[in-house]
Amino acid sequence: MRGKFITLEGIDGAGKSTHLAWLAEYLKSRSIALCVTREPGGTPLGEKLRALLLDKDQPMHLETETLLMFAARREHIEKVIAPALARGEWVLCDRFTDATFAYQGAGRGVANEKLGVLERWVQGSLQPDLTIIFDLPPAVGRARAGSIKSPDRFERENEAFFERVREGYLQRAKAAPQRIRLIDASRGIAEVQADLTVVATELWR
Ligand code: TMP
Repeated sequence: MRGKFITLEGIDGAGKSTHLAWLAEYLKSRSIALCVTREPGGTPLGEKLRALLLDKDQPMHLETETLLMFAARREHIEKVIAPALARGEWVLCDRFTDATFAYQGAGRGVANEKLGVLERWVQGSLQPDLTIIFDLPPAVGRARAGSIKSPDRFERENEAFFERVREGYLQRAKAAPQRIRLIDASRGIAEVQADLTVVATELWR
C-alpha cells in the first residue's frame, strides 16, 4: 500500500524542527516505516541548490529563486519522495510547495498562476495527504529564535515579509481545509504536541 505523504510548514521561528523530530518519533513508535526529508534539499543536488538559495551573499531574481525551489523539488520527488511512497513508507517532509506559495508567492510577489503552472509541471497529481502549518505571529517567532548568529538569505528578511508569508500560509489553509491543519504554535510545546497527536490520529482513518 502506498505510504502517506505529510508535510510540515510555518514561518521561520515557529518551532517546526522541534515538532518534526517529535512527530517522527511518535510515528516510529507506532511502527510506521518513515522517510524524513526536507526542502529545499533532500537529495545531493537539492542540497547544493539549498546552499545557493540560502546563501546570504548570493542575490538572485525572485523568479530564479522560484525556479530553483522547483528544480530541487523535481529531483526530490523523483529520487526520494515517490520511491519511498511506492515502497509503502510514510514521508515526513520539512516544507514543500505550500512554502513556495507562502515565501515566493505571498512574500516576494510571484503570481499564483505561475506557481500553479510549475506545481502541475513538477508534481503532476502528487499532493501531500496532510499538511500541518505551525502558525504564530512573526514577532513571537523572532523573539523566540533570539539573535541568530549568521542569518541566511530568508532569515534576514524583515517582519513585514514574514507577515506576508504568514498570511500566505493562512490563505493556503483556508483554500484546502481537507488537507491542511493549522496549529497555534505560539503556545507551549506540550500543548502543540497534544494537538499534533490528534492531527496524526486522522492519518489512520
Ligand atoms: P528551513 O529553514 O525551514 O529548512 O527552510 C529553508 C528556507 O527556505 C526557509 O526560510 C523557507 C525557504 N523556502 C522557500 O522560500 N520556498 C520553498 O519552497 C521552500 C521549500 C523553502
